[in-house]
Amino acid sequence: MNKVENKQIRDILSESISPIEDKRYMYYVSDLIENEVVLSMKNFIQHGSTTCYDHCLSVSYYSYKIAKKFNLDAKSAARAGLLHDLFLYDWHKVLEKKPLFQKHGFTHPRTALENACKYFNLNEIEKDIIEKHMWPLTLRKVPKYKESVVVTMVDKYCSTKETFSPLVEKIKKLNFITRKQYL
Ligand SMILES: [Fe+2]
Ligand SMILES: [Fe+2]
Repeated sequence: MNKVENKQIRDILSESISPIEDKRYMYYVSDLIENEVVLSMKNFIQHGSTTCYDHCLSVSYYSYKIAKKFNLDAKSAARAGLLHDLFLYDWHKVLEKKPLFQKHGFTHPRTALENACKYFNLNEIEKDIIEKHMWPLTLRKVPKYKESVVVTMVDKYCSTKETFSPLVEKIKKLNFITRKQYL
């Protein structure tokens, strides 16, 4: 990836997103966004205070924009991005001790793929995106398509941002209070 492409990706990721206003994006995913199984992801927290639904929506929309920019299959990136974490449980509440490779981080892509196939028709790219999105954690599940690489990268970007945004907010608030006290 050259410097210009790198900058284009950074520009897309720094844009504030409004997927609902993007007609082409909505045309690709409207049936999923309104589906009650997909909507049920609103009941589960993914990272920080972000629900699984909001996380998937961000991953889907950023992946769609990047795939579109690089003339990839933006529709598959958008649809699979929205379904990539359709595991449908609160992973914070799984208290049962399990061997490393049976833990949520390793198993949820397969669970999400099974759920997605149960409720929707998926093409090969979409299946690959969902199943491989945790690579490189899932060592042998190497993404086969460029679209899978895009979603994998965007997922890591969104997850990091969502995990640390409550902390960043707290620090900002603390800074504001401290500054006010010394003024
Ligand atoms: Fe995931
Ligand atoms: Fe994710």
